[in-house]
Amino acid sequence: TTVVADTGDIEAIRQWRPVDATTNPSLLLKAVSQPEYAHFLDEAVTWAKGQGGHGSRLLEDAADMLAVMVGREVLDIVPGRISTEVDSRLSFDGEATMARVHKLIDLYAGRGVGTERILIKIASTWEGIRAAEQLEREGINCNLTLMFSMAQARVAADAGVFLISPFVGRIMDWFKAENGQDYAAAEDPGVLSVQQIYRYYKSHGYATEVMGASFRNIGEILALAGCDRLTISPALMQQLDASCESVERMLADDGGCQARESPMREAE
Ligand code: E4P
Repeated sequence: TTVVADTGDIEAIRQWRPVDATTNPSLLLKAVSQPEYAHFLDEAVTWAKGQGGHGSRLLEDAADMLAVMVGREVLDIVPGRISTEVDSRLSFDGEATMARVHKLIDLYAGRGVGTERILIKIASTWEGIRAAEQLEREGINCNLTLMFSMAQARVAADAGVFLISPFVGRIMDWFKAENGQDYAAAEDPGVLSVQQIYRYYKSHGYATEVMGASFRNIGEILALAGCDRLTISPALMQQLDASCESVERMLADDGGCQARESPMREAE
């Protein structure tokens, strides 16, 4: 399992040394709320003003530049890729999504970052998946996010996207609120959804990688050890690390520190 940090927090990425990192607008805002990175926000706004935009256009430009500035910084630390998310208000507009992605790619290029180090996070709507299909043809790899179902996963795989991020926690949150009960990892509906998608992909030989995302506790993460990738918040990395010699060891294919049978193995 490739360990990915679900954060834009540069210090946390330095501490945990993941292979990749994933960001989204709220994680980016959290990252630059720390005093030592607050100047990123000022620089992004100054740059956006220089582009001549006003109102929502200015905010969009600043948000995109901020994502790229943080992404650039993260790439100095991780050996792999940064996932940068497209504004989710564009989720049902394929053309606008494509235009925004090309803008992000240009901004990254302006900072010396090639497409091979970027994954573009796009919502797994019909329009988003079709845009990702086209972007993949252009050599821009995508990470389909906000994925909650097998139907979305099947369309994404058929579209030939590089990576999907099926969510765990948001499914579990919904079931928990609906049924008023907690779920052990083995019965957690979010975990079961990702396991089902993973097994389907492997049994059909899809090349698209599966990265479990949106975790609420380490039980969910351990239940998915063996998955291609898992994106984990620094707080949960800390908890995993406290239970074992390292996060990587915890998620090792041989069952890690607890010599568990990886629940994902039977699918292969
Ligand atoms: C990662 O790619 C996702 O943006 C993240 O895991 C979502 O997690 P959340 O459900 O806690 O927002």
